[in-house]
Amino acid sequence: SSPSSRRNSFKNDSFIDEKDVIDSITNTELGCLSIVVLGASGDLAKKKTFPALFNLFRQGFLQSNEVHIFGYARTKLSDDDLRERIRGYLIKGAPAEKPEILSDFLKLIKYVSGGYDSAEGFLSLNKEISEHELAKNSYGSSRRLFYLALPPSVYPSVCKMIKSYCMNQAVPTGWTRIVVEKPFGKDLASAEELSAQLGELFDEPQLYRIDHYLGKELVQNLLVLRFANRLFLPLWNRDNIDNIQIVFREDFGTEGRGGYFDEYGQVFLHLTVISYTGTIDWFIQILVGHHSSGRDCTFSCCVSKQVLELCPKSTNFGTFSYRIIRDIFQNHLLQVLCLVAMEKPVSLRPEHIRDEKVKVLQSVLPINYDEVVLGQYEGYTDDPTVSKDSNTPTFATIILRIHNERWEGVPFIMKAGKALNSRKAEIRVQFKDVPGDIFKCKKQGRNEFVIRLQPKEAMYMKLTVKKPGLDMSTIQSELDLSYGQRYQDVQIPEAYERLILDTIRGDQQHFVRRDELRAAWEIFTPLLHDIEDGKVKPVPYKTGSRGPPEADELAAKAGYVQT
Ligand code: NDP
Ligand code: BG6
Repeated sequence: SSPSSRRNSFKNDSFIDEKDVIDSITNTELGCLSIVVLGASGDLAKKKTFPALFNLFRQGFLQSNEVHIFGYARTKLSDDDLRERIRGYLIKGAPAEKPEILSDFLKLIKYVSGGYDSAEGFLSLNKEISEHELAKNSYGSSRRLFYLALPPSVYPSVCKMIKSYCMNQAVPTGWTRIVVEKPFGKDLASAEELSAQLGELFDEPQLYRIDHYLGKELVQNLLVLRFANRLFLPLWNRDNIDNIQIVFREDFGTEGRGGYFDEYGQVFLHLTVISYTGTIDWFIQILVGHHSSGRDCTFSCCVSKQVLELCPKSTNFGTFSYRIIRDIFQNHLLQVLCLVAMEKPVSLRPEHIRDEKVKVLQSVLPINYDEVVLGQYEGYTDDPTVSKDSNTPTFATIILRIHNERWEGVPFIMKAGKALNSRKAEIRVQFKDVPGDIFKCKKQGRNEFVIRLQPKEAMYMKLTVKKPGLDMSTIQSELDLSYGQRYQDVQIPEAYERLILDTIRGDQQHFVRRDELRAAWEIFTPLLHDIEDGKVKPVPYKTGSRGPPEADELAAKAGYVQT
């Protein structure tokens, strides 16, 4: 399909105001587009970013005559090396693809090697982009999207380089947008510092902070579900809902990524900035010598001579401990909570939606430690990248309480864990018991509305019905909307695909605003600091279990009834 027909078909499906879309197309969607993946040699780039770009390309959202994709990183690679590196991941996502589509896509990719604070590197990147713009620019515009698939330690220097050497050359018709990956900081102070550093260089409308949960189909469905169905409007409140669970479970552990999950991840990242050698040896040497349990670690002396020569003993590496709370709660689960709990926005404009989300976050009460259970799976510290005495939680159940008219008294039971017995993410809205029940429904369980975000997207409502037959008895049954059955001919897009497309379209609805980020960190920072200070400790749980039994007890105490 032609670029304009593809854009139009997308436009017609969208529920964003037609006029807004037309304005945004005329003003910003024309002209050649340069997509720059910084950190192109890395894991996220090959597994998520390039496959998402390929999917957009094969569906016609990216066109050969206007798009060019640049990979940038320090590793010395040729264009073909990068293409070979990512080829397998592209095919994985689209096995039945015609080979010429794949080769057309790969032809669009160029690689530039350079440092993250190197003027020379960014000047040559700019030269490549400008050449592409000269060759393909039929509209005299310039659209430059920089995707930072990089550790956050280099965000400030990369942003400075972009600002100095690689900005859109066609002001005011084009744009420069920066997509940043999580984690945005390790606590309130560091997140604010990062925001301030980036904020000095770019305006908020240029910054796209990704939380890939916001790109998931059923997360995006939440607003429609809540505000386009009369059925839910009068029920969605403290008068009818007893408790809400937001659950994330994974059936695998940190699997060698423990160092990333635990404190050590950031020590490694910082050291490589100072002394990058391109080998893993440094990592191992540093882990052996690092003994940190605090928020900031000072390098101790028991490391190899080579490392000591490069890093003074007093170097403060500012550790990040990822923990389940930083990795999942502060971002993914809290974003879902906002969409479940927020009031109806004035319109679907991104600012209106984000205003409502911020209000929810600001209404969350300080966490009561009696309503927290932390867990660590047995064997977590066997990971060679994890300290033997690590108190990093790999599981948490935390009850959040929202102090407003709609939700006063309703516990939001937030649960996330690694190495559990299943992989799934879901929202369970449990309704109160029927008053004056004449059927003894309690025995059958309560009404529960479940939104399964993954795997196998579905929504189902647990209802009590008459058991079919001559007897007058009740049974718990389900009204089931399973997407795999109902929408067989629709391939549900990957979150990253959608979010990159949103960035190109200039729609920030599904991205995290700076004040939202601050409010989110405000909720979890005190608890995170207390965990780091050893004041709150995880209890052990068995790999492949439901997590610590204490977590189920807490949920039951908060009112959740297993149906
Ligand atoms: P990688 O560790 O693979 O790093 C990406 C690239 O960055 C590397 O190829 C390397 O490129 C460069 N790099 C690595 N360490 C440093 C360092 N200390 N200083 C400077 N450059 C460095 O990370 P991922 O691709 O896994 O993740 C990138 C970002 O995305 C991170 O912020 C991560 O938190 C986030 N993320 C990742 C997910 C995933 O599934 N991987 C999921 C969600 C978020 P070179 O040496 O060639 O310059
Ligand atoms: C990432 C976390 O943000 O989300 C990972 O860093 C986690 O630890 C992943 O595994 C889960 O994403 P998804 O889309 O598989 O639920």
